[in-house]
Amino acid sequence: MSNHEVLSNIIKNRRSIFPVSYIQKEIPIAVIEQILESANYAPTHKLTQPWRFTVIRKKAKARLGETLGDLYKRTVPAHQFLQKKYNSFSEKTSQADCILAINIQFHPNEIPAWEEIAAVGCAVQNMALTAEALNVGTYWSSPPLIDNLGDFLGLNENEKCYGLFYMGYHEDEPRSAKRTPIAEKVKWLEK
Ligand SMILES: Cc1cc2nc3c(=O)[nH]c(=O)nc-3n(C[C@H](O)[C@H](O)[C@H](O)COP(=O)(O)O)c2cc1C
Repeated sequence: MSNHEVLSNIIKNRRSIFPVSYIQKEIPIAVIEQILESANYAPTHKLTQPWRFTVIRKKAKARLGETLGDLYKRTVPAHQFLQKKYNSFSEKTSQADCILAINIQFHPNEIPAWEEIAAVGCAVQNMALTAEALNVGTYWSSPPLIDNLGDFLGLNENEKCYGLFYMGYHEDEPRSAKRTPIAEKVKWLEK
């Protein structure tokens, strides 16, 4: 297979795989490191390399689940509180083998925030594609509660959490992507 065929298959086969599908099988540290390593090769304006990750494994996953549940309880109006939603945080963190907090370190004197966010989007896609190539299921979760995870993650003033990257081995059947054709999203200017 040509490089293009290999890459195109990985890109097209990658799907978000949710914690409910994960099996109880440990992801070796070396595999987690391969996934993280590819994040580091994302493009980055002025080489600010703004991606920062917190690897959350073992007992720390339960602490994350409890923290998200507590934050939910504290921030949702009492009449909107749903026990099922509250329980879902600990369920998801225990189903995952490893969770990466996706954090951004901003450099406001060097480049605008959107460029740092874009670079981190590239870094996360590198991780998702690497994980796909290694048969690890992943998905980027972005509940509003992540705005309150600074203390849990030990983030500095200039850092902010932009999501939780859930990871686990799985046995889901491949499913095709839901996308409308690219031709509908492209304009060509040739004269
Ligand atoms: C920045 C970002 C945030 C996302 N946040 C969530 C989320 O909070 N919950 C969720 O179910 N999926 C989330 N997703 C995953 C999308 O739902 C998923 O990518 C989309 O449905 C397309 O499916 P695919 O990834 O399998 O191609 C997020 C994806 C991105 C890129």
